[in-house]
Amino acid sequence: MNTAKPVFHGSDLEKVEAVYGIPAKDIVPFGGNVNPLGLSPMLRESLIAHIDDITGYPDREYTALREAISGHVGAPADRILVGSGATELISLIMQTKRPRQACILEPTYSEYRREIQLGGGTCYDYLLEEGLGFLPDPARLLEDLAARKADLLIMCNPNNPTSSCADRQRLSSILEGAQKLGILVFVDETYIEFTPDPEALTAAPLTNTYANLVVLGGVSKFFAAPGLRLGYGIFGDLKWREELKDMQNPWSVHTLAATCGGVMFRDRDYILRSRSYIAKERDRCYEAVKAIPGLQPVPPRANFMLVKITDPRVTSGRLFEACISRGLMIRDCSTFPALGDRYIRFCFLKEEDNTRLLDTLRETMESAV
Ligand SMILES: Cc1ncc(COP(=O)(O)O)c(C=O)c1O
Repeated sequence: MNTAKPVFHGSDLEKVEAVYGIPAKDIVPFGGNVNPLGLSPMLRESLIAHIDDITGYPDREYTALREAISGHVGAPADRILVGSGATELISLIMQTKRPRQACILEPTYSEYRREIQLGGGTCYDYLLEEGLGFLPDPARLLEDLAARKADLLIMCNPNNPTSSCADRQRLSSILEGAQKLGILVFVDETYIEFTPDPEALTAAPLTNTYANLVVLGGVSKFFAAPGLRLGYGIFGDLKWREELKDMQNPWSVHTLAATCGGVMFRDRDYILRSRSYIAKERDRCYEAVKAIPGLQPVPPRANFMLVKITDPRVTSGRLFEACISRGLMIRDCSTFPALGDRYIRFCFLKEEDNTRLLDTLRETMESAV
């Protein structure tokens, strides 16, 4: 009989319920990477006020929504294509682009590879080194892209699961070189709003300069609205945006997301509160984990942290078990290429939950035999 426990993704609460018998509602989702402050109050009010809009179709061009996103990301509305979560756009891009040789900077979010493979494309891994802060060295990366004749470069920035984030200068060097090589660059910025300075870090304004760039964003994580299924792509190449729009199913963003989705971008109070709360917990958790023998946190830039287990007696599976036995669901990173059973990831939730997790990690490491 196979008694091995499966490895769970961050949103697999129902699967965890089935395996461990813990009701999904009682699980503290440290693997979900969602803002613990919940919905923007302005979004909540707007959703309630517009509930009857669901009786109609959304504007097929999503003009008002794209204008609101434009104000949030700092790029023109005609460069923006909305989708049912960032996921629809990842799928659309990978399946229509069908890359011959896509470069994936690993370890990273697994959906890129899945969508490339589903679309009949092929990809290869470029391993990010911990010694370099899990950031690509532009010169080395460009050399590798040229040698392998890559046609697509996929970057997640900030990267899931490493929480590392390339700055604008590093991105520009990569974009400049990639443009010369005729390589398309796809930057997933799902976590950008959590960083200390999103306006300075986002690649969105670079779509005005680089036709080979597409930037992706969404509201699932920072705006704590994964159920709204709202994402967007910002395209350097307007023609390519049009082509993708023609391939997309009409009305894939539903009416409530279309009508109310733009409201949260104007909720300055919520945005600033979220950012400063995450910054405070990020610093606190980083310092606390640094002080636990056998654990070594990777400096985080987003709302989650990758932690290396340096004590050889403890595995990521064991830490997962210790945490889930207390209802705390972290991410065992053993399914990520090159991380093996040496890493866990968790996001920053409510202060008291974070403290419970830190205590559990400390106690488990101290009792390691
Ligand atoms: C890096 C990254 N991109 C995209 C997504 C999916 O985003 P959405 O809910 O907008 O489809 C996730 C979800 O975990 C993610 O981690």
